Amino acid sequence: MEKVRIGVLGAYRGSSMINYCKRASNAELVAICDKTPEALEAQRARAEEEGHTNIAYYDNFEDFIKHDMDAVVLANYATEHAPFAIKAMKAGKHVYSECLPVQNMKEAVELIETVEETGKIYAFGENYCYMAAPYEMKKLYEQGKLGEFEYGECEYIHNCIPIWPCLTYGERDHWRNNVHSCFYCTHSIGPIIHITGLKPVSVTGFETTMNERMLSNGSKTATFGIQMITLENGGIIKAINGNLYKDSVWYSIYGSKGRMESARKDAQAQYHERIYVNCDEFQGAYGEENIETYEPVQDLAGETQGFGHGGSDFYTMYNFAEKIKGNPKADIVDVYEALDMFLPGLFAYFSILDGGVPKEIPNLRDKAVRDLWRNNTACTDPKVAGDMLLPTCKTGTPDIPDSVYAHVEELWHAEAEKEDGNYRAKAFKQGSKEYTGGGE
Ligand SMILES: NC(=O)c1ccc[n+]([C@@H]2O[C@H](COP(=O)([O-])OP(=O)(O)OC[C@H]3O[C@@H](n4cnc5c(N)ncnc54)[C@H](O)[C@@H]3O)[C@@H](O)[C@H]2O)c1
Repeated sequence: MEKVRIGVLGAYRGSSMINYCKRASNAELVAICDKTPEALEAQRARAEEEGHTNIAYYDNFEDFIKHDMDAVVLANYATEHAPFAIKAMKAGKHVYSECLPVQNMKEAVELIETVEETGKIYAFGENYCYMAAPYEMKKLYEQGKLGEFEYGECEYIHNCIPIWPCLTYGERDHWRNNVHSCFYCTHSIGPIIHITGLKPVSVTGFETTMNERMLSNGSKTATFGIQMITLENGGIIKAINGNLYKDSVWYSIYGSKGRMESARKDAQAQYHERIYVNCDEFQGAYGEENIETYEPVQDLAGETQGFGHGGSDFYTMYNFAEKIKGNPKADIVDVYEALDMFLPGLFAYFSILDGGVPKEIPNLRDKAVRDLWRNNTACTDPKVAGDMLLPTCKTGTPDIPDSVYAHVEELWHAEAEKEDGNYRAKAFKQGSKEYTGGGE
Protein backbone atom coordinates (compact mmCIF):
# COMPACT_ATOMS: atom_id res chain seq x y z
CA MET A 1 0.00 0.00 0.00
CA GLU A 2 1.53 3.28 -1.13
CA LYS A 3 -0.65 5.63 0.89
CA VAL A 4 -3.16 4.80 3.60
CA ARG A 5 -6.59 6.19 2.68
CA ILE A 6 -7.93 8.01 5.74
CA GLY A 7 -11.26 9.58 6.68
CA VAL A 8 -11.55 12.03 9.57
CA LEU A 9 -14.57 12.35 11.89
CA GLY A 10 -14.68 15.76 13.60
CA ALA A 11 -13.54 18.79 11.65
CA TYR A 12 -12.27 21.11 14.40
CA ARG A 13 -9.57 19.32 16.38
CA GLY A 14 -9.60 16.91 13.42
CA SER A 15 -8.11 19.66 11.26
CA SER A 16 -4.69 18.69 12.62
CA MET A 17 -5.08 15.14 11.26
CA ILE A 18 -6.68 16.47 8.08
CA ASN A 19 -3.62 18.64 7.54
CA TYR A 20 -1.34 15.68 8.22
CA CYS A 21 -3.05 13.60 5.54
CA LYS A 22 -2.87 16.43 3.01
CA ARG A 23 0.90 16.70 3.44
CA ALA A 24 1.94 13.14 4.18
CA SER A 25 3.86 10.74 1.99
CA ASN A 26 2.30 7.73 3.74
CA ALA A 27 -1.36 8.83 3.91
CA GLU A 28 -4.04 10.56 1.90
CA LEU A 29 -7.27 12.23 2.93
CA VAL A 30 -10.34 10.71 1.28
CA ALA A 31 -13.27 11.79 3.48
CA ILE A 32 -14.31 14.22 6.21
CA CYS A 33 -17.38 13.88 8.40
CA ASP A 34 -18.90 16.48 10.70
CA LYS A 35 -22.47 17.11 11.74
CA THR A 36 -21.80 20.85 12.15
CA PRO A 37 -22.37 22.44 8.73
CA GLU A 38 -19.98 25.38 9.27
CA ALA A 39 -17.15 23.03 10.16
CA LEU A 40 -17.70 20.83 7.12
CA GLU A 41 -18.13 23.75 4.74
CA ALA A 42 -15.03 25.50 6.05
CA GLN A 43 -13.02 22.31 5.44
CA ARG A 44 -14.47 21.98 1.95
CA ALA A 45 -13.66 25.60 1.08
CA ARG A 46 -10.15 25.26 2.38
CA ALA A 47 -9.47 21.99 0.56
CA GLU A 48 -10.79 23.39 -2.71
CA GLU A 49 -8.63 26.47 -2.33
CA GLU A 50 -5.62 24.20 -1.86
CA GLY A 51 -6.51 22.05 -4.86
CA HIS A 52 -7.53 18.91 -2.92
CA THR A 53 -10.49 17.79 -5.00
CA ASN A 54 -10.79 14.07 -4.20
CA ILE A 55 -12.31 14.38 -0.75
CA ALA A 56 -15.84 13.23 0.07
CA TYR A 57 -17.85 15.15 2.70
CA TYR A 58 -20.39 13.60 5.04
CA ASP A 59 -22.67 15.04 7.68
CA ASN A 60 -23.29 11.69 9.41
CA PHE A 61 -21.17 8.77 10.55
CA GLU A 62 -23.39 6.03 9.10
CA ASP A 63 -22.76 7.18 5.50
CA PHE A 64 -19.16 8.18 6.20
CA ILE A 65 -18.15 4.75 7.46
CA LYS A 66 -19.32 3.13 4.20
CA HIS A 67 -16.79 5.19 2.25
CA ASP A 68 -14.06 3.16 0.55
CA MET A 69 -11.10 3.86 2.88
CA ASP A 70 -8.54 1.98 4.98
CA ALA A 71 -8.72 3.88 8.24
CA VAL A 72 -10.58 6.51 10.23
CA VAL A 73 -9.50 9.17 12.67
CA LEU A 74 -11.96 9.83 15.49
CA ALA A 75 -11.70 13.47 16.55
CA ASN A 76 -15.28 13.75 17.82
CA TYR A 77 -16.24 14.38 21.46
CA ALA A 78 -13.86 12.94 24.06
CA THR A 79 -16.50 10.81 25.77
CA GLU A 80 -17.86 9.29 22.55
CA HIS A 81 -14.91 7.59 20.89
CA ALA A 82 -15.47 3.96 21.86
CA PRO A 83 -18.83 3.34 20.13
CA PHE A 84 -17.51 4.86 16.89
CA ALA A 85 -14.20 2.96 17.16
CA ILE A 86 -16.09 -0.31 17.58
CA LYS A 87 -18.40 0.37 14.63
CA ALA A 88 -15.46 1.43 12.46
CA MET A 89 -13.39 -1.70 13.17
CA LYS A 90 -16.43 -3.89 12.56
CA ALA A 91 -16.78 -2.10 9.22
CA GLY A 92 -13.22 -3.15 8.38
CA LYS A 93 -11.38 0.12 9.11
CA HIS A 94 -8.28 0.71 11.20
CA VAL A 95 -8.86 3.30 13.92
CA TYR A 96 -6.97 6.27 15.33
CA SER A 97 -8.77 7.60 18.40
CA GLU A 98 -8.32 11.01 19.96
CA CYS A 99 -8.27 11.23 23.74
CA LEU A 100 -9.95 9.51 25.61
CA PRO A 101 -10.29 5.88 24.47
CA VAL A 102 -13.46 5.02 26.46
CA GLN A 103 -15.50 6.41 29.32
CA ASN A 104 -16.36 3.32 31.34
CA MET A 105 -15.44 -0.33 31.89
CA LYS A 106 -18.13 -1.74 29.61
CA GLU A 107 -16.71 0.25 26.73
CA ALA A 108 -13.15 -0.76 27.68
CA VAL A 109 -14.00 -4.48 27.49
CA GLU A 110 -15.89 -4.05 24.20
CA LEU A 111 -13.08 -2.01 22.68
CA ILE A 112 -10.38 -4.57 23.52
CA GLU A 113 -12.51 -7.45 22.31
CA THR A 114 -13.32 -5.69 19.05
CA VAL A 115 -9.61 -5.10 18.38
CA GLU A 116 -8.91 -8.77 19.09
CA GLU A 117 -11.83 -10.06 17.02
CA THR A 118 -11.34 -7.85 13.97
CA GLY A 119 -7.52 -7.80 13.96
CA LYS A 120 -7.69 -4.12 12.98
CA ILE A 121 -5.04 -1.67 14.10
CA TYR A 122 -6.17 0.61 16.91
CA ALA A 123 -3.92 3.55 17.76
CA PHE A 124 -4.61 5.89 20.63
CA GLY A 125 -3.57 9.45 19.74
CA GLU A 126 -1.84 10.29 23.02
CA ASN A 127 0.37 12.89 21.40
CA TYR A 128 2.14 14.04 24.60
CA CYS A 129 4.15 10.78 24.54
CA TYR A 130 5.83 12.08 21.39
CA MET A 131 6.86 15.50 22.67
CA ALA A 132 10.62 15.90 22.42
CA ALA A 133 11.61 15.56 26.10
CA PRO A 134 9.39 12.61 27.09
CA TYR A 135 10.24 10.84 23.84
CA GLU A 136 13.94 11.24 24.55
CA MET A 137 13.29 9.84 28.05
CA LYS A 138 11.78 6.78 26.43
CA LYS A 139 14.83 6.25 24.25
CA LEU A 140 17.24 6.68 27.17
CA TYR A 141 15.12 4.47 29.43
CA GLU A 142 15.16 1.70 26.84
CA GLN A 143 18.97 2.04 26.66
CA GLY A 144 19.11 1.44 30.44
CA LYS A 145 20.32 4.93 31.33
CA LEU A 146 17.86 5.36 34.23
CA GLY A 147 17.98 1.79 35.49
CA GLU A 148 14.82 0.44 37.12
CA PHE A 149 11.94 2.92 37.34
CA GLU A 150 11.19 3.93 40.94
CA TYR A 151 9.15 7.15 40.97
CA GLY A 152 7.63 9.62 38.53
CA GLU A 153 5.70 12.86 38.56
CA CYS A 154 3.65 14.25 35.71
CA GLU A 155 1.47 17.28 35.23
CA TYR A 156 -1.07 18.31 32.67
CA ILE A 157 -2.47 21.59 33.89
CA HIS A 158 -4.42 23.54 31.32
CA ASN A 159 -6.51 26.50 32.29
CA CYS A 160 -9.12 26.34 29.52
CA ILE A 161 -11.49 28.72 31.26
CA PRO A 162 -10.59 31.76 29.11
CA ILE A 163 -11.70 29.79 26.02
CA TRP A 164 -14.54 27.85 27.72
CA PRO A 165 -17.34 29.60 25.76
CA CYS A 166 -15.64 28.66 22.49
CA LEU A 167 -15.13 25.08 23.66
CA THR A 168 -18.58 24.41 25.11
CA TYR A 169 -20.89 26.98 23.41
CA GLY A 170 -22.95 27.25 26.59
CA GLU A 171 -24.18 23.64 26.31
CA ARG A 172 -25.04 22.31 29.76
CA ASP A 173 -24.34 18.74 28.68
CA HIS A 174 -21.15 19.39 26.74
CA TRP A 175 -18.63 16.70 27.70
CA ARG A 176 -16.19 19.27 29.04
CA ASN A 177 -18.84 20.42 31.55
CA ASN A 178 -19.73 16.93 32.59
CA VAL A 179 -16.59 14.88 33.20
CA HIS A 180 -14.99 14.08 36.58
CA SER A 181 -11.69 15.51 37.76
CA CYS A 182 -9.58 12.46 36.83
CA PHE A 183 -11.13 11.80 33.41
CA TYR A 184 -8.67 13.70 31.22
CA CYS A 185 -5.63 11.96 32.68
CA THR A 186 -3.72 10.56 29.73
CA HIS A 187 -1.69 13.67 28.80
CA SER A 188 -0.07 13.40 32.22
CA ILE A 189 0.10 9.65 32.87
CA GLY A 190 0.48 8.59 29.23
CA PRO A 191 4.10 9.53 28.60
CA ILE A 192 5.34 7.76 31.75
CA ILE A 193 3.51 4.59 30.78
CA HIS A 194 4.93 4.85 27.25
CA ILE A 195 8.47 5.51 28.53
CA THR A 196 8.58 2.61 30.98
CA GLY A 197 6.15 0.09 29.47
CA LEU A 198 5.07 -0.72 33.04
CA LYS A 199 1.47 -1.58 33.86
CA PRO A 200 -0.51 0.20 36.58
CA VAL A 201 -1.87 -2.13 39.26
CA SER A 202 -3.52 0.13 41.82
CA VAL A 203 -4.42 3.75 42.44
CA THR A 204 -5.59 6.16 45.10
CA GLY A 205 -7.38 9.29 43.97
CA PHE A 206 -7.72 12.80 45.34
CA GLU A 207 -9.64 15.79 44.10
CA THR A 208 -9.99 19.36 45.20
CA THR A 209 -13.20 21.36 45.39
CA MET A 210 -14.97 23.15 42.58
CA ASN A 211 -14.03 26.79 42.15
CA GLU A 212 -15.99 29.85 41.12
CA ARG A 213 -13.90 30.27 37.98
CA MET A 214 -15.19 26.96 36.65
CA LEU A 215 -18.72 27.02 38.10
CA SER A 216 -19.41 30.43 36.58
CA ASN A 217 -18.54 28.94 33.17
CA GLY A 218 -20.81 25.93 33.63
CA SER A 219 -18.19 23.29 34.50
CA LYS A 220 -19.41 20.73 37.04
CA THR A 221 -15.92 19.33 37.67
CA ALA A 222 -13.49 19.80 40.56
CA THR A 223 -10.55 22.00 39.56
CA PHE A 224 -8.00 19.19 39.56
CA GLY A 225 -7.61 15.50 40.22
CA ILE A 226 -4.58 13.57 41.47
CA GLN A 227 -3.77 9.92 40.97
CA MET A 228 -1.18 8.09 43.08
CA ILE A 229 -0.52 5.04 40.95
CA THR A 230 1.43 1.91 41.87
CA LEU A 231 3.02 0.14 38.92
CA GLU A 232 3.65 -3.58 38.51
CA ASN A 233 7.30 -3.24 39.67
CA GLY A 234 6.33 -1.34 42.82
CA GLY A 235 7.27 2.05 41.33
CA ILE A 236 4.89 4.94 42.00
CA ILE A 237 3.60 7.77 39.83
CA LYS A 238 2.06 10.96 41.17
CA ALA A 239 -0.07 12.42 38.38
CA ILE A 240 -2.12 15.61 38.31
CA ASN A 241 -4.46 16.97 35.65
CA GLY A 242 -6.83 19.87 35.71
CA ASN A 243 -7.64 23.52 35.28
CA LEU A 244 -5.37 25.27 37.78
CA TYR A 245 -4.73 28.88 36.91
CA LYS A 246 -1.28 28.53 35.29
CA ASP A 247 -0.56 25.90 32.66
CA SER A 248 2.05 23.20 33.10
CA VAL A 249 3.13 20.17 31.08
CA TRP A 250 5.94 18.44 32.97
CA TYR A 251 7.46 14.99 33.40
CA SER A 252 10.05 13.80 35.91
CA ILE A 253 11.20 10.21 36.44
CA TYR A 254 13.54 8.65 38.98
CA GLY A 255 15.25 5.28 38.60
CA SER A 256 18.00 3.22 40.20
CA LYS A 257 20.61 5.30 38.32
CA GLY A 258 19.24 8.80 38.70
CA ARG A 259 16.64 11.21 37.36
CA MET A 260 15.44 12.68 34.07
CA GLU A 261 13.01 15.50 33.64
CA SER A 262 11.64 18.02 31.18
CA ALA A 263 11.93 21.77 31.66
CA ARG A 264 9.33 23.50 33.80
CA LYS A 265 7.37 26.13 31.88
CA ASP A 266 8.50 28.99 34.13
CA ALA A 267 12.17 28.13 33.61
CA GLN A 268 11.64 29.56 30.10
CA ALA A 269 14.01 26.96 28.74
CA GLN A 270 12.11 25.47 25.79
CA TYR A 271 9.60 23.74 28.07
CA HIS A 272 8.83 20.14 27.07
CA GLU A 273 11.40 20.39 24.30
CA ARG A 274 14.28 20.41 26.82
CA ILE A 275 15.47 17.47 28.90
CA TYR A 276 17.69 17.30 31.99
CA VAL A 277 19.49 14.01 32.58
CA ASN A 278 21.17 13.34 35.92
CA CYS A 279 22.12 9.67 35.83
CA ASP A 280 25.25 7.77 36.82
CA GLU A 281 26.56 4.43 37.97
CA PHE A 282 27.71 5.70 41.40
CA GLN A 283 25.94 6.01 44.71
CA GLY A 284 23.54 8.91 44.32
CA ALA A 285 24.77 12.01 46.12
CA TYR A 286 28.13 10.42 46.97
CA GLY A 287 29.25 10.09 43.36
CA GLU A 288 30.22 12.80 40.93
CA GLU A 289 27.20 14.34 39.31
CA ASN A 290 27.11 14.70 35.59
CA ILE A 291 24.00 16.67 34.67
CA GLU A 292 23.35 17.03 30.99
CA THR A 293 20.71 19.26 29.44
CA TYR A 294 19.80 19.60 25.79
CA GLU A 295 16.93 19.93 23.31
CA PRO A 296 16.66 16.51 21.68
CA VAL A 297 16.41 16.55 17.90
CA GLN A 298 13.78 13.99 17.00
CA ASP A 299 13.88 11.77 13.94
CA LEU A 300 11.84 13.49 11.23
CA ALA A 301 12.11 16.83 13.04
CA GLY A 302 12.16 18.54 9.64
CA GLU A 303 8.65 17.30 8.91
CA THR A 304 6.92 18.52 12.05
CA GLN A 305 6.84 22.21 11.13
CA GLY A 306 3.38 23.64 11.71
CA PHE A 307 2.09 20.72 13.82
CA GLY A 308 0.67 21.47 17.23
CA HIS A 309 1.71 20.33 20.70
CA GLY A 310 5.42 20.72 20.07
CA GLY A 311 5.17 18.81 16.78
CA SER A 312 3.85 15.72 18.56
CA ASP A 313 0.64 15.86 16.49
CA PHE A 314 2.78 14.81 13.52
CA TYR A 315 4.22 11.69 15.15
CA THR A 316 0.95 10.10 16.25
CA MET A 317 -0.41 10.20 12.71
CA TYR A 318 2.90 9.26 11.09
CA ASN A 319 3.21 6.17 13.27
CA PHE A 320 -0.43 5.18 12.73
CA ALA A 321 -0.01 5.20 8.95
CA GLU A 322 3.36 3.41 9.17
CA LYS A 323 1.84 0.71 11.38
CA ILE A 324 -0.88 0.08 8.79
CA LYS A 325 1.76 -0.08 6.08
CA GLY A 326 3.54 -2.79 8.08
CA ASN A 327 6.60 -0.85 9.25
CA PRO A 328 7.93 -2.88 12.22
CA LYS A 329 9.43 0.26 13.76
CA ALA A 330 6.09 2.11 13.89
CA ASP A 331 5.52 3.22 17.48
CA ILE A 332 1.82 3.47 18.32
CA VAL A 333 -0.07 3.36 21.61
CA ASP A 334 -2.18 0.21 21.19
CA VAL A 335 -5.49 -0.55 22.89
CA TYR A 336 -3.95 -2.23 25.96
CA GLU A 337 -1.53 0.62 26.55
CA ALA A 338 -4.30 3.16 25.94
CA LEU A 339 -6.23 1.60 28.80
CA ASP A 340 -3.11 1.50 30.99
CA MET A 341 -3.14 5.30 30.54
CA PHE A 342 -6.89 5.72 31.07
CA LEU A 343 -7.86 3.26 33.82
CA PRO A 344 -5.80 4.96 36.57
CA GLY A 345 -8.03 8.02 36.11
CA LEU A 346 -11.31 6.09 36.25
CA PHE A 347 -10.24 4.02 39.26
CA ALA A 348 -8.82 7.10 40.98
CA TYR A 349 -12.28 8.58 40.72
CA PHE A 350 -13.82 5.40 42.15
CA SER A 351 -11.31 5.81 45.00
CA ILE A 352 -12.28 9.47 45.52
CA LEU A 353 -15.97 8.55 45.70
CA ASP A 354 -15.07 5.85 48.22
CA GLY A 355 -13.31 8.25 50.59
CA GLY A 356 -9.78 7.65 49.31
CA VAL A 357 -9.65 3.86 49.54
CA PRO A 358 -6.98 2.45 47.12
CA LYS A 359 -8.46 0.61 44.13
CA GLU A 360 -6.97 -2.30 42.24
CA ILE A 361 -6.78 -1.63 38.49
CA PRO A 362 -8.23 -4.64 36.65
CA ASN A 363 -5.95 -6.35 34.14
CA LEU A 364 -8.13 -6.38 31.05
CA ARG A 365 -5.52 -8.41 29.16
CA ASP A 366 -6.97 -11.31 31.19
CA LYS A 367 -10.21 -12.52 29.63
CA ALA A 368 -11.56 -13.83 32.94
CA VAL A 369 -11.17 -10.39 34.51
CA ARG A 370 -13.16 -8.81 31.67
CA ASP A 371 -16.23 -10.80 32.67
CA LEU A 372 -16.30 -9.03 36.01
CA TRP A 373 -16.52 -5.64 34.31
CA ARG A 374 -18.32 -6.07 30.99
CA ASN A 375 -21.63 -4.71 32.30
CA ASN A 376 -20.16 -1.90 34.38
CA THR A 377 -21.33 1.40 32.90
CA ALA A 378 -20.29 3.63 35.80
CA CYS A 379 -19.34 7.08 34.53
CA THR A 380 -20.66 10.66 34.66
CA ASP A 381 -22.41 10.58 31.28
CA PRO A 382 -26.17 10.14 31.72
CA LYS A 383 -26.47 8.95 28.11
CA VAL A 384 -24.57 5.72 28.83
CA ALA A 385 -24.36 5.24 32.60
CA GLY A 386 -27.92 3.99 33.15
CA ASP A 387 -28.45 3.21 36.83
CA MET A 388 -24.68 3.48 37.48
CA LEU A 389 -24.54 7.25 36.94
CA LEU A 390 -21.80 8.91 39.01
CA PRO A 391 -21.82 12.48 40.30
CA THR A 392 -19.37 14.80 38.54
CA CYS A 393 -17.71 15.73 41.82
CA LYS A 394 -17.28 13.98 45.18
CA THR A 395 -19.70 16.44 46.77
CA GLY A 396 -22.36 15.69 44.15
CA THR A 397 -23.22 17.11 40.74
CA PRO A 398 -23.73 20.84 41.25
CA ASP A 399 -27.01 22.35 40.22
CA ILE A 400 -25.94 25.18 37.92
CA PRO A 401 -28.68 27.63 36.93
CA ASP A 402 -29.70 27.94 33.27
CA SER A 403 -28.67 31.59 33.37
CA VAL A 404 -25.00 30.54 33.57
CA TYR A 405 -25.23 28.55 30.34
CA ALA A 406 -27.22 31.34 28.68
CA HIS A 407 -24.42 33.75 29.61
CA VAL A 408 -21.70 31.42 28.29
CA GLU A 409 -23.66 31.03 25.07
CA GLU A 410 -23.84 34.82 24.75
CA LEU A 411 -20.08 35.03 25.21
CA TRP A 412 -19.63 32.40 22.54
CA HIS A 413 -21.85 34.30 20.06
CA ALA A 414 -20.02 37.52 20.82
CA GLU A 415 -16.74 35.77 20.10
CA ALA A 416 -18.15 34.26 16.93
CA GLU A 417 -19.28 37.67 15.66
CA LYS A 418 -15.89 39.15 16.36
CA GLU A 419 -14.15 36.46 14.41
CA ASP A 420 -15.57 36.22 10.95
CA GLY A 421 -18.83 34.54 11.90
CA ASN A 422 -17.26 31.58 13.66
CA TYR A 423 -14.37 31.78 16.09
CA ARG A 424 -13.41 28.13 15.87
CA ALA A 425 -13.70 27.90 12.09
CA LYS A 426 -11.45 30.91 11.84
CA ALA A 427 -9.05 29.42 14.34
CA PHE A 428 -8.63 26.16 12.48
CA LYS A 429 -8.40 27.92 9.12
CA GLN A 430 -5.20 29.43 10.37
CA GLY A 431 -3.69 25.97 10.52
CA SER A 432 -2.98 23.27 13.00
CA LYS A 433 -0.16 25.13 14.72
CA GLU A 434 -2.52 27.84 15.86
CA TYR A 435 -5.48 25.61 16.46
CA THR A 436 -4.41 22.81 18.69
CA GLY A 437 -7.80 22.27 20.25
CA GLY A 438 -6.95 24.56 23.09
CA GLY A 439 -4.12 22.24 24.07
CA GLU A 440 -1.02 23.40 25.88
N1 LIG B 1 -4.61 15.34 21.90
C1 LIG B 1 -4.77 16.63 22.07
O1 LIG B 1 -3.82 17.35 22.33
C2 LIG B 1 -6.14 17.22 21.95
C3 LIG B 1 -6.36 18.60 21.90
C4 LIG B 1 -7.67 19.06 21.75
C5 LIG B 1 -8.71 18.17 21.64
N2 LIG B 1 -8.46 16.84 21.70
C6 LIG B 1 -9.53 15.86 21.55
O2 LIG B 1 -10.14 16.04 20.29
C7 LIG B 1 -11.50 15.68 20.36
C8 LIG B 1 -12.35 16.80 19.86
O3 LIG B 1 -12.17 17.97 20.63
P1 LIG B 1 -13.41 18.80 21.19
O4 LIG B 1 -14.29 17.93 21.98
O5 LIG B 1 -12.84 20.05 21.76
O6 LIG B 1 -14.31 19.08 20.04
P2 LIG B 1 -14.20 19.89 18.71
O7 LIG B 1 -14.38 21.31 18.94
O8 LIG B 1 -13.00 19.43 17.96
O9 LIG B 1 -15.53 19.35 18.05
C9 LIG B 1 -15.81 18.02 17.77
C10 LIG B 1 -16.39 17.98 16.38
O10 LIG B 1 -16.91 16.69 16.15
C11 LIG B 1 -18.17 16.80 15.53
N3 LIG B 1 -18.97 15.64 15.91
C12 LIG B 1 -19.19 15.18 17.16
N4 LIG B 1 -19.96 14.09 17.13
C13 LIG B 1 -20.24 13.86 15.83
C14 LIG B 1 -21.01 12.87 15.16
N5 LIG B 1 -21.63 11.91 15.83
N6 LIG B 1 -21.11 12.94 13.81
C15 LIG B 1 -20.49 13.93 13.13
N7 LIG B 1 -19.75 14.90 13.70
C16 LIG B 1 -19.62 14.85 15.04
C17 LIG B 1 -18.77 18.09 16.07
O11 LIG B 1 -19.73 18.65 15.19
C18 LIG B 1 -17.53 18.98 16.18
O12 LIG B 1 -17.31 19.71 15.00
C19 LIG B 1 -11.76 15.32 21.82
O13 LIG B 1 -11.66 13.95 21.94
C20 LIG B 1 -10.62 15.97 22.56
O14 LIG B 1 -10.29 15.25 23.71
C21 LIG B 1 -7.21 16.37 21.86
